[in-house]
Amino acid sequence: MAIDKEMIAEIKNSVNIVDVIGEVVSLTKAGRNYLGLCPFHKEKTPSFNVIEDRQFFHCFGCGKSGDVFKFIEEYRQVNFLESVKIIAERAGIAVQVETTPQPNRRLHPNQALLDIHQDAAKFYHAVLMTTTIGQQARAYLAERGLTDDLLEVFNIGLAPDEADFFYRQISAKDKYDENTLANSGLFNFSEENNRFYDAFRNRIMFPLTNDSGQVIAFSGRIWTESDVERKQAKYKNSRSTPIFNKSYEMYHLDKAKSVASKQHEVYLMEGFMDVIAAYKAGVENAVASMGTALTPEHVQHLKKFTKKVVLTYDGDTAGQNAIAKSLEILSDMQVEIVRIPNQMDPDEFLQKNSPEALGQLLQQSRVSSIEFLIHYLKPENIDNLQAEIAFVERIAKIIAASPSITAQNAYINMVAELLPDYDYFQVEQAVNNERLSNRSAISQEARLQSMRVVELPVSKAMTALVRAESQLMHRLLHHAYLLNEFRHRQDFIFDTAELQILFELLKKQGEITTVDLNQMEENVRQMYYRVLEENLPEEIANNEVEAIESRRNQLIQERELRKQSKQIRESSNHGDTDQALLALEQLIAQKRNME
Ligand code: UTP
Ligand code: MN
Repeated sequence: MAIDKEMIAEIKNSVNIVDVIGEVVSLTKAGRNYLGLCPFHKEKTPSFNVIEDRQFFHCFGCGKSGDVFKFIEEYRQVNFLESVKIIAERAGIAVQVETTPQPNRRLHPNQALLDIHQDAAKFYHAVLMTTTIGQQARAYLAERGLTDDLLEVFNIGLAPDEADFFYRQISAKDKYDENTLANSGLFNFSEENNRFYDAFRNRIMFPLTNDSGQVIAFSGRIWTESDVERKQAKYKNSRSTPIFNKSYEMYHLDKAKSVASKQHEVYLMEGFMDVIAAYKAGVENAVASMGTALTPEHVQHLKKFTKKVVLTYDGDTAGQNAIAKSLEILSDMQVEIVRIPNQMDPDEFLQKNSPEALGQLLQQSRVSSIEFLIHYLKPENIDNLQAEIAFVERIAKIIAASPSITAQNAYINMVAELLPDYDYFQVEQAVNNERLSNRSAISQEARLQSMRVVELPVSKAMTALVRAESQLMHRLLHHAYLLNEFRHRQDFIFDTAELQILFELLKKQGEITTVDLNQMEENVRQMYYRVLEENLPEEIANNEVEAIESRRNQLIQERELRKQSKQIRESSNHGDTDQALLALEQLIAQKRNME
């Protein structure tokens, strides 16, 4: 059967050529395009371009070019129809293309196991939707925010509370041989009684599907008071079978995969209920592993559809530990982490807030893996110097591995801000040591970049505060209208002394001349060059200056708070309780002010 033009267009639109090629060719962004080494001819300097906005590739070396299908044809040495099929599969679009005649194609070697799972899903769903006990279970689910619509979408069911109800049903039909029943994972055989029992009893049933949407296993949750009291395992999963590999399959991936390839990311969550909560919040590209830790096989599986994983594990300690473990396994993927407040999981967050709030959280409350690790690894007792040193050593390695120097600098700042005994310079020193020892491992380009950074005159700690003020100064130097505005603000003073000196000069003369530079103190001159080095876009963005200012003010307040806490510690260490109490009072007042 041929596929029509519209279908082909739809398939083509559902993937991004940059992702498809990016899986097999290492691409770097160069201006508006992506550049890499051509997979079709030998070359040392990249001349292979992928043009994202027009969705085609072109190699200036060998002249090959074409769209995503052409790429697959050439790369995999297949014909056009096969390339369409490959892309369709990747995008999760079902097409029937007879590529090579395969008479037995429809007979999956484990067809019987797939069929019995389909029957089981139908059976469990019917029990939930049409029986009296099902009505009670639906009341429990409704309480948890699962409407009947959602029960349909996720094909949720209920296993009856009987020893072998489902077994009797299915064996009465005489449709499956004993082998199939025994291998399905849906029944347990008792040697003692020489009979089968239902593996799932009195549980809410979540069907798990393979990439083609066929049911291959179940997870069942307890829901009655008595099972909770009897401390039954909360969730019970199908055992491994020829069609179910726990270490590979993920809940909801069949539905999530096409959205994931379109949006270039997939949310990885801990629980089924979290995936359903995400769905309620309009997020369809969320999956969960099946009660096991993330494995390299899971990651391979996800990589078929996207290169980026957004880890959305519970906000509790167990969740944070699981993130740290998963990060190791996800080392060659792009990763972001959603931080969920108050130890909640996504489902609890939705219940306490709203679907809209969860949607926003998933989008906006993300940090990079390095930022996560900075907070995760930071010593519990921040005043323990030994612990600080160990932490800096460990985190410096992680920071030095980041490919972007700008990002590295931001992380260095973040670490310096966290630690009372470190400033920017000291943390940078630690990172530099790692950069140098990494040298042989990093690319020429990155090496050059890091050298440049190492050679910068680092005379003084560059804290986040100095950075914010330096950006502001950069704007004042280059935008006369802004300087005019600031001239009229009598109350505005730079916290950084050198910047304030520059500011005074600027207010007086409107510019800073060579003569000024010659007469300046060394530290002021260095600061001036540092400001010039700020890598800001020419145009001032909307609200940019306001944002810098409020960041600056916040940083000043935070520093005051830290100072006061330090003072309290010192006073109480010296036994000066009066002084400590006074300082504490001020601290509390100030914290209130900040809220
Ligand atoms: P959680 O305990 O975080 O469950 O387990 P949850 O997602 O919040 O579920 P609800 O909201 O209480 O219903 C997360 C995942 O760990 C697996 C399941 O896959 C679950 O979704 N798990 C949990 C088990 O396999 N067995 C268990 O006994 C508990
Ligand atoms: Mn939960």
